Amino acid sequence: MSLKTLILAAGKGTRMKSELPKVLHKVCGVPMVQKIVNTCSKIGSIENILILGHKKEEILKVLPDIKYVVQEEQLGTGHAVIQAKEKLKDFDGTVMILCGDTPLLREETLKNLYNYHIETGATTTILTSIYENPFGYGRIVKENGKVIGIVEEKEATKEIKAIKEVNAGVYCFNSKELLIALEKIDNNNEKGEYYLTDVISINVKSGKKVEAFLLEDNNEILGINSKVELEQANSIMRDRINLAHMENGVILIDQKSTYIEESVEIEQDTIIYPGALLQGNTKIGKNCEILGNTRIIDCLIGNNVKIESSVLEESTIEDKVTIGPFAHLRPKSHLKEEVHIGNFVEVKKSTLEKGVKAGHLTYLGDATVGEKTNIGAGTITCNYDGKNKFKTTIGKNAFIGSDTMLVAPINIGENALVGAGSVITKDVPENALAVSRSKQVIKFDWRK
Ligand code: UD1
Ligand code: CA
Repeated sequence: MSLKTLILAAGKGTRMKSELPKVLHKVCGVPMVQKIVNTCSKIGSIENILILGHKKEEILKVLPDIKYVVQEEQLGTGHAVIQAKEKLKDFDGTVMILCGDTPLLREETLKNLYNYHIETGATTTILTSIYENPFGYGRIVKENGKVIGIVEEKEATKEIKAIKEVNAGVYCFNSKELLIALEKIDNNNEKGEYYLTDVISINVKSGKKVEAFLLEDNNEILGINSKVELEQANSIMRDRINLAHMENGVILIDQKSTYIEESVEIEQDTIIYPGALLQGNTKIGKNCEILGNTRIIDCLIGNNVKIESSVLEESTIEDKVTIGPFAHLRPKSHLKEEVHIGNFVEVKKSTLEKGVKAGHLTYLGDATVGEKTNIGAGTITCNYDGKNKFKTTIGKNAFIGSDTMLVAPINIGENALVGAGSVITKDVPENALAVSRSKQVIKFDWRK
């Protein structure tokens, strides 16, 4: 296959009203330009080239390895393509041009467009679709069923504005013919820009074969120019992602109020309740229940896990763990099988071995807790002295009484018992009882 792609992403995106470059706005967690680059890399092109300009450094931070050319001044989409002339001049094949602001395009669509272009032997093939309200898009003007040009909204007459077939901003061009036609475009239009779309009428006039490839699903070609369109794109993408999960056997109680990013993997019979927010490189196993306003980011979760109204970040959760309501797992926490953490429990950079329970109001930071140990309500690992962090180690089958301060660095031995309300500053040997609190005083009839 002799195909290269050019992705236009140099524009200011004025209508987006944002400090962030338009193409870096995310759709279901993925920056639009990254999404389109990912799609392009699946269609068998030999090179994907970005056209960058406005705030290019920020885009390069997201796509550090991408090939690109710079458009110093944003003088229009045609001008943008001309910047890639050097990259194309010795190339005898197809150039697919796409915009960085159409992230909903599917791999199959681009493949079908390319195949159609090759089969018809056209010089140029335009991806098009039908919109009931085509405002803002270039209109496909035809004569006797043949494309004769694309007219932009700004230049459109009343008759042309009534045309519902629009330009998706995706094209296949014969590389050589594209460069020849680009020589001829000018900026004599309402916007004073060099329009790529003018290449179409130039090709038609010089007798070249121009085809339109009509796409049924107009959702796919949505161009994101504003925050309203960004919301539409997120909503379409969310439906797509959620439908795929349901088809794979995941149960979504209310898919419209469930937000799952593209990168998330979930196994069958897991139930996701409304208000869940699943992000990043999260993997969730089978038969889990994710309830209420739970946010999970970059976590690895086993099977039969139940999580309610909690926040989980960069952690590993093994089978049959129960979490919440209102728990917080901070990065590098590892909850092994059958661990339970309950209300208002925060865990950071700690390992809880099999069967550990910390039911209420607890902070475990920089700690390891042995198998089946019970952590009473209000236990705190005092891991920070204002400058440095210290470790707490608790052996298996230990029992930490309620409202205990474990002042790290500290070791609590296997099967040890710490009395409620203690401040523990010295290591506790295995099987021992440690109590550190003032003795209770009773004064009879004091109130009389
Ligand atoms: C463009 C098309 C329109 C089509 C629509 C589809 C033109 C003239 N118009 O309009 O026919 O229906 O896309 O979504 O092509 N860009 C540059 N350099 C520039 C200007 C733009 O790289 O000088 C990039 C932008 O970053 C963007 C893309 O080109 O990713 C499209 O530009 P945009 O201004 O959004 O074009 P539309 O007005 O949407
Ligand atoms: Ca656009």
